[in-house]
Amino acid sequence: MTAKTYMVRTFGCQMNEHDSERIAGLLEADGLRPAASVDDADVVVLNTCCIRENADNKLYGNLGQLKTLKQRRPDMQIVVGGCLAQKDRDLIVAKAPHVDVVFGTHNVHRAAELVGEQRVAGRSIVEILEETAADDHESFPSALPARREVSYAAWVTIQIGCDNSCAFCIVPAVRGREISRGFDDIVDEVQALVADGVTEVTLLGQNVNSYGRDLTLARRRAGESVRVRPLFADLLRAVGEVEGIRRVRYTSPHPKDLRPETIVAMATVPAVCEHLHLPLQAGSDRVLAAMHRGYTAERYLERLAAARAAIPDLAVTTDIIVGFPGETDDDFERTLQVAAEAAYDSAYTFIYSPRPGTEAAGRVDEFVPAEVCTERFERLRVVVERSALARHRARIGATEEVMIEGPSRKDASLTTGRTRHNKLVHFRSPEPLRAGSYAEVTVTGAAPHHLTGELLRVTAPARHRTRIPVAVAT
Ligand code: 5AD
Ligand code: SF4
Repeated sequence: MTAKTYMVRTFGCQMNEHDSERIAGLLEADGLRPAASVDDADVVVLNTCCIRENADNKLYGNLGQLKTLKQRRPDMQIVVGGCLAQKDRDLIVAKAPHVDVVFGTHNVHRAAELVGEQRVAGRSIVEILEETAADDHESFPSALPARREVSYAAWVTIQIGCDNSCAFCIVPAVRGREISRGFDDIVDEVQALVADGVTEVTLLGQNVNSYGRDLTLARRRAGESVRVRPLFADLLRAVGEVEGIRRVRYTSPHPKDLRPETIVAMATVPAVCEHLHLPLQAGSDRVLAAMHRGYTAERYLERLAAARAAIPDLAVTTDIIVGFPGETDDDFERTLQVAAEAAYDSAYTFIYSPRPGTEAAGRVDEFVPAEVCTERFERLRVVVERSALARHRARIGATEEVMIEGPSRKDASLTTGRTRHNKLVHFRSPEPLRAGSYAEVTVTGAAPHHLTGELLRVTAPARHRTRIPVAVAT
């Protein structure tokens, strides 16, 4: 019999992409194989996101297309997971009765089982858990089998949920409270990844600074005499010291709790990349207060200055929202000033999008008109690109270590690599270089979103095994 096939479509952030790798891993562990296209997939999983974009429209648009496919192939199973599933639950099946399985953010680990159960039951299954049990390590996406997108770099979830309450953000509602994954579990996973040939890991969490606070609190409650404190800096050190790891990245810290010991770990652990992603969100203190961010622009810039002073040649990136309810022209001018002063290497910029159920979404009277948002967005883009280009130009002549990603997407005669600063560099190579190898490149040109360079030499070959596609007997 031919193995059944699956396809996972991901919307949203790295957290979701990582969940999708786990969903794919679980389905493969269950005997399914990746489908070449959605047209011949037996199981289609839509892993939804509701953090910013108009997720509902996207989901129902996709479900509309799948409905036609399912009419032709009634055996096909349609599965909806992720943040929007967590939020809308039964509503999805009510609106789209052809959906077979709905699961939330706390039961990703049940994905394959639910697909199997639905096949037997023959009716739609909706399974949403309100929360992850703190001792339920199974539910950490990283503790599940994965089908990683690339074999040489990996994401590792260190924490799920978020205990903050930023007025614009849906994450606490859909991902629940903060729970840290066990310290040794994480280090063990990194060791296993390295044994598999991975040399770069990105530690994922909504608020990595507070990683481990809940773990130390639990130990204290159990009678141990430990100090209740976050363990993120210790984790950076432990992961950075795993034999064979060359690059450690993480995202994201919250500026209000960026701790000196994290900066020290970044400055002293050689594997930890010289790149800090520090979400600003807004430059006006009034808007920051309305967002409940817990810092002022001045405090933010002070922390940034301290990080720059401690970590030589630090790249800094950020997230900024324009058009938060009530944002005036003056408020926005402050955002431009702070962005210019921070001199970012790049920024993810967003137009505020009301997320139903969040505090800011209720401030309808103060919504900023769409055309004002578009204009502000454009002006911010110009400011960010100016600093990005200046910082990139300053690198011309420097030698950078890059990790090879493969042929350039725009021009296949060029090779693309990524620097420790997380910047793309395009350069010519006399022969194809294997993804995952390391090379030294001299920077020769700069643009706002990439660098160009000349290959000096390959410094380390890729160590991971190439996956050989397994032929399936029919
Ligand atoms: N509207 C616009 N941007 C948002 N973000 C989160 N919620 C919203 C929203 N409602 C942005 C923030 C956050 C990033 C992941 O997404 O900048 O840091
Ligand atoms: Fe959302 Fe704020 Fe938590 Fe980030 S820190 S996930 S923006 S609530």
